Amino acid sequence: MPGTMGIAHTRWATHGKPSEVNAHPHTDCKNHIYVVHNGIIENYKAIKDELSKKGHVFKSETDTEVIAHLIEEYFAGNLEQATLKAAKYLEGAYAFAVISIDNPEKIIVVKKSSPLVIGLGKGENFIASDPLALAGYADKVIYLEDNELGVITKDSYQIISTQHKEPIKKQEHELDLNAAKMQKNGHEYFMLKEIFESAEVIQNSIRGRIIGKTGEVKLGGLENLDKNRIKNINRIILIAYGTAAYVCLIGKYMLEEYTGIPVDAEFGSEFRYRKTTLNAQTAVIVLSQSGETADSLASILEAKKRGALVLGIVNVVGSTISRETEAGIYNHAGPEIAVASTKAFISQIVILALLTVYLGRMRGKMSTDISKQITFQIQKLPALIEKVLKNSKQIKQLAHKYAKYKNFLYMGRKYNYPIAEEGAHKLKEVDYYVHAEGYPSGEPKHGAIAMIDENFPSIFIMPNDSVYEKNFSNMEEIKARNGKIIAIATEGNQEIKKVVEDVIYIPQTLEMLTPILSVIPLQLFTCFMGIELGCDVDKPRNLAKSVTVE
Ligand code: AGP
Repeated sequence: MPGTMGIAHTRWATHGKPSEVNAHPHTDCKNHIYVVHNGIIENYKAIKDELSKKGHVFKSETDTEVIAHLIEEYFAGNLEQATLKAAKYLEGAYAFAVISIDNPEKIIVVKKSSPLVIGLGKGENFIASDPLALAGYADKVIYLEDNELGVITKDSYQIISTQHKEPIKKQEHELDLNAAKMQKNGHEYFMLKEIFESAEVIQNSIRGRIIGKTGEVKLGGLENLDKNRIKNINRIILIAYGTAAYVCLIGKYMLEEYTGIPVDAEFGSEFRYRKTTLNAQTAVIVLSQSGETADSLASILEAKKRGALVLGIVNVVGSTISRETEAGIYNHAGPEIAVASTKAFISQIVILALLTVYLGRMRGKMSTDISKQITFQIQKLPALIEKVLKNSKQIKQLAHKYAKYKNFLYMGRKYNYPIAEEGAHKLKEVDYYVHAEGYPSGEPKHGAIAMIDENFPSIFIMPNDSVYEKNFSNMEEIKARNGKIIAIATEGNQEIKKVVEDVIYIPQTLEMLTPILSVIPLQLFTCFMGIELGCDVDKPRNLAKSVTVE
């Protein structure tokens, strides 16, 4: 291409199906102004209606296009002035970039809630959503804050507050050009890096999907489905493998509690050969980080053949499962490199929580108050996760202390029973010299408790929830057999210290969201113990990141 300036964006539709006409950049009526945008414009409909009345003609189904037309409406020769005026009317989450053929030397960027970074090179400057993308191109970066506008040319930049219209002095940060180190963000292993990304992952997974004041959830990927098909769902089957299969179990509890729809959680390899009756009112929802897992894929084909509505919750954009399902929700958790799934796991839980609100509201089973409460608590998760991650030093010490043991039992109830399974799964997978099993806390006394002695530690996941007392009794059964216990408990719980050997605290949240906080200490415990035992925690033996065979 002959040009020396450009903007581009790879996107998953929040509005409108993926198609050429809905692809970025979007333009104004005269094709003079071009816009790319990451995020969601919540009031786009009102803006579109108003501008249409004034004669603007829209070409796409996207929310983004209104930005280009709004700037056109205000344009009087100065692109930044027009963009500043336009930004005043935009509600939602956005980072967008604007160029115009009338000002061919500059890019205007505006940020609110979605990430945006400016990269400074020699005789060239860049913009991106993530500094990683600039490794090898820019020497320094500037992080835009909310309500800031940047005017960028090939050798200059200027930042202005969109609220006070005053210039802002920004700090330039060195960008370490060592791409490998950049990729691991200073961590020794991808697994650690990915666990430490958890707060950001939740932000990315929920961005633009919660309508602030009403507690309403918007899932763009489901928007093109006939609403009646969703309203008529009378059975849900959640399908996945490994770590994602434990998310299905959590989803079962959430969806049944808040939507009243009966839910099964199954392994694809079992589902595909089971002769269960499906029909158009059955929703088969497949969860997969990679989007390539063979048995999950086969289940999709089988479910389609039997007439079910087949949906996907997938992290890898454009993967086979995302293409084979009728509609779906992307995780937006970013690339997961370590074989052990950590950040994709928590993003899958939060997506199922959003789906629970979406279905609960749509089917009239959830009150506005409850949905407001759930979405409010979801939005608080990133800050709570940061608090949990601050315990990493303590967890590292515990990993060191317990690395000599060869067997572990993990136990939990209700929402945290799947976390017991996942904790054990992670330990077996990553720390392959150690054996672990996950159980519902009420179960070991029917068999496994026979193995317990002072050399067989147990991990109890027992936040302050509706089954705390029951969990406590089960924990005492283990204690009575001289079992050593590590507990994951809610901050402020002092009584637990009398029974357990060690306790890791997590902050209080809604019961259905506790798995997101309780799994993080277990992921860290596994990772630190694996490092201690000399395992390659990023690439455990005998395993592959995506399992593309039956
Ligand atoms: C998780 O830590 C595992 N590596 C594995 O169990 C994984 O979750 C499973 O293979 C499913 O993969 P998918 O999410 O890519 O479908």
